[in-house]
Amino acid sequence: MLHKEIARRDLLKLGLVAGGAVLFSGCQKAVNMDLSTSQLRVSDPSNSKMEELIRYATLAANGHNTQPWKFRIMDKTLEIHPDLSRRLNVVDPQDRELWISLGCALENLVIAAGAAGFANEIIYPAKEQNYIKINLQSDTTEVSHLFNSIQIRQSTRSEYNHEKLSNVLMDQIHSVSTEPGVSLKFIENISETERVIEYLNAGNMKQYADKAFLEELIFWLRFNQKEALSTMDGLFSKCSGNPTVPRFLGEMFVSSTKPQKQAEADAKKLLSSSGSVVFATDNDTPESWVRCGQVFERLSLHLTSLDLKSALVNQPIEVPELRGEFQTAMGLGSNLPQLLMRFGVADAMPYSLRRPVEEVLI
Ligand SMILES: Cc1cc2nc3c(=O)[nH]c(=O)nc-3n(C[C@H](O)[C@H](O)[C@H](O)COP(=O)(O)O)c2cc1C
Repeated sequence: MLHKEIARRDLLKLGLVAGGAVLFSGCQKAVNMDLSTSQLRVSDPSNSKMEELIRYATLAANGHNTQPWKFRIMDKTLEIHPDLSRRLNVVDPQDRELWISLGCALENLVIAAGAAGFANEIIYPAKEQNYIKINLQSDTTEVSHLFNSIQIRQSTRSEYNHEKLSNVLMDQIHSVSTEPGVSLKFIENISETERVIEYLNAGNMKQYADKAFLEELIFWLRFNQKEALSTMDGLFSKCSGNPTVPRFLGEMFVSSTKPQKQAEADAKKLLSSSGSVVFATDNDTPESWVRCGQVFERLSLHLTSLDLKSALVNQPIEVPELRGEFQTAMGLGSNLPQLLMRFGVADAMPYSLRRPVEEVLI
């Protein structure tokens, strides 16, 4: 009942915040989805305009749903800082995926800012600045069509429906714009897909045999609604299509996962997808990672706008021994692989949760 109340108020609020119909349709769709999740992602009526932009930023994809960000509002300047207390030491020891996650948040933020009438200037992290700075100016009328997709984008980890996409649709997907230093390698034929699966298998075999990897994963898993709602972060089992169970059962189940079984399940998911794409950059620096995150979030939103789903399967890149080999096998030359995404046609899954804006403000 309470959730219904919130949703109705939010629809009104969102219509006001960013100019009506654009927002309205996306939100309406979200409201019709799973009560326990998507409705908790909508607006807080007491948010200021800047806080509302930050709320859109927090709806971005991010590693293990750690939400590793902090935001500072200084009049018309916003800063996105890494929250190092939410690092993933095992799977992401370099903070590479952490900075990619901040890039995803940045992309949502600038799209939402555009919808609210703000042009932007981005100052990327560098040696003397360990955060992202966004200067907003109130003079744009450029509203990206991707804005509608922010609220309904999700990582859809289910098996897809094996649909072959038309050339017209593939051309639309390929038309996504990138950032300097970021390139995309689309994998659409079966021999390349089989090559990707070899690396995905190898990655799963390594990760699921690694006790530290499993412990970190279990730490961020939320096995039931009570756990998910108490932290509003982490990987809620329902979002991946798994049943909700008491923690001790969930832990037992995950820690006894056979690496081979996990590899087979992911191979099946990749084969059920319409295509996959490797994101690569010319450097391994916070700036390149942030730009990569922007392009990844942009493509995810673009796919959402085309009614397609996507999910990441980064195992071949997260396992250090495989990353270089994968780079060569994918013919990336000197470009460094950062993310591996699959995409295709599938039903939506329950939505992951986010902490409220006041918890991520500095
Ligand atoms: C850098 C990065 C790495 C990720 N790696 C994976 C991955 O390997 N497997 C996966 O299923 N999801 C992965 N994700 C997706 C996140 O788990 C997901 O974005 C998060 O749980 C929030 O859910 P949502 O995308 O549905 O909003 C990754 C996301 C980011 C930004």
